[in-house]
Amino acid sequence: MNAEISTPTDELTQRLSATPRGARLARRLAATQLAEWGHPHDSEVSDTVQHLVAELAANAVTHGRVPGRDFELRLRLLPENTLRIEVSDPRGDRQLRFAAQEADGEHGRGLILVTLLADTWGVTERDVGKTVWAEIGLG
Ligand SMILES: Nc1ncnc2c1ncn2[C@@H]1O[C@H](COP(=O)(O)OP(=O)(O)OP(=O)(O)O)[C@@H](O)[C@H]1O
Ligand SMILES: [Mg+2]
Repeated sequence: MNAEISTPTDELTQRLSATPRGARLARRLAATQLAEWGHPHDSEVSDTVQHLVAELAANAVTHGRVPGRDFELRLRLLPENTLRIEVSDPRGDRQLRFAAQEADGEHGRGLILVTLLADTWGVTERDVGKTVWAEIGLG
């Protein structure tokens, strides 16, 4: 048995193509996973999670895209019924850090929505690229 390739039930990790189709798929995968965790597609919390994933994935495939490289969606159930959404893309994070500091909304509505919907969110650097993450209580 190889523990690394077994699929733990409290986690979903999926690489996706950095295309609009890949971003749509990320949202659908999140809805399906949430349903497995007891939150149906049409529930309020699933709706919120789908919005968060859609915005983060859209950003990954537009601003974070490197031609020929995938992005990655990861969903994790943390203690106390918190969901952690992680969307990783291959671009460095300097541009995003700058954008996140701008409060005037001139750079779009996606991250404003993320700020409103998530309990917390942030950006973590990786060896290659970055992870934009958001956490939300599933209630
Ligand atoms: N994954 C990312 N990689 C690099 N830069 C990013 C990423 N996500 C966001 N940004 C930067 O932050 C800015 C704000 O993002 P935000 O989602 O709020 O707006 P937008 O994507 O430009 O427009 P909208 O989401 O309204 O269609 C972006 O314009 C981009 O410069
Ligand atoms: Mg956006």
